[in-house]
Amino acid sequence: MNAQTAFMETDYTQHLVDSVESAADANKKAVTNTVLAPRFYTTDFDAMDKIDISSVRKEWDLMMEEYEGDNNHDHFQRDAEFAGEVHTLMSKLDEKLKQEFYDFLIGSLTSEFSGCILYNEVRKNISNPDIKKLMTFMARDESRHAGFLNQSLKDFNFGIDLGELKRTKKYTFFKPKFIFYATYLSEKIGYARYITIFRQLEKHPDKRFHPIFRWFERWCNDEFRHGESFALIMRADPKLLKGLNLWWIRFFVIAVYATMYVRDHTRPALHDAMGLKATEYDFEVFRITSEISKQVFPLIVDIDNPMFKVHLDHLTKLSFAMNAAKEKKGFLNLINKGWIGAQAFVTFFKLFFLPVIKSELPRQVRLAPTW
Ligand SMILES: [Fe+2]
Ligand SMILES: [Fe+2]
Repeated sequence: MNAQTAFMETDYTQHLVDSVESAADANKKAVTNTVLAPRFYTTDFDAMDKIDISSVRKEWDLMMEEYEGDNNHDHFQRDAEFAGEVHTLMSKLDEKLKQEFYDFLIGSLTSEFSGCILYNEVRKNISNPDIKKLMTFMARDESRHAGFLNQSLKDFNFGIDLGELKRTKKYTFFKPKFIFYATYLSEKIGYARYITIFRQLEKHPDKRFHPIFRWFERWCNDEFRHGESFALIMRADPKLLKGLNLWWIRFFVIAVYATMYVRDHTRPALHDAMGLKATEYDFEVFRITSEISKQVFPLIVDIDNPMFKVHLDHLTKLSFAMNAAKEKKGFLNLINKGWIGAQAFVTFFKLFFLPVIKSELPRQVRLAPTW
């Protein structure tokens, strides 16, 4: 048995997606905050106003030229075949896959819209010209992305009321440095996720069960550039990348990776349909994200350490167990939930303290999206 086979055999997935039968269900899913669902953020705008990017000015200006060039200005429009493809392809899908796809669309939309709101709020509340300009461009991109996803939800009459979502979803406050760590990672992971799906379906067009995947290549270049912006902001302020902050970086990398891993393992049919396994797919996404993140983070998580996967699988099983326990009532079950929570905490702690790999920061920050 080779290592790859052993890797596959421990794959662990369970269809754990709440059904969406109406627009009300879809809107409820988007607004509900769970451990795994994307959140909305707010931050300290005065601190954002004080960001100084002068030490990376040259790379910054080149990046701003790219934003201004706006090479995706005409990308987020459907072509003539789109509606027909939705109809012929989706009518063949079984219910489980449809539900996991809706879950994917709603989760992606919430996450895109979260970026749109945050970038817009920062733009409105600061006067720093560099950051204001950047936020304007990024909000423009995220609004296109969210709108494009929403069009696909509307095909099934599951459109999300974005105004209502903005008003009613809870906001989490993060200090700017935590916004940088978390948003950098989510932009780069977004790139890695979209490009991995795009490359897979490019090789296996018969597995492309919805036309939206044809848009992913140019789309993910926007996410890549958003990530580049946060990389430059962090590199411009070296104290964010040393000392105690290295522990925060470690924390965010582990938290973001673990959340994605657990969430993807609740959608087995979606990955099967694309000819991917959730574990394999996630490790490819980790690999790409870790490789990219060397541009800014002086450490990477050792995803090849066998214990990394062992702990992630354990967290996944605990999350499934917690989900099953939520359905039950009674005192014993309360103790059971506490016990599962405690084990999840310990497992996360173990993941957090796995040895990391140090890496030297490159002189040039910017990277090209070549995956
Ligand atoms: Fe986006
Ligand atoms: Fe983005």
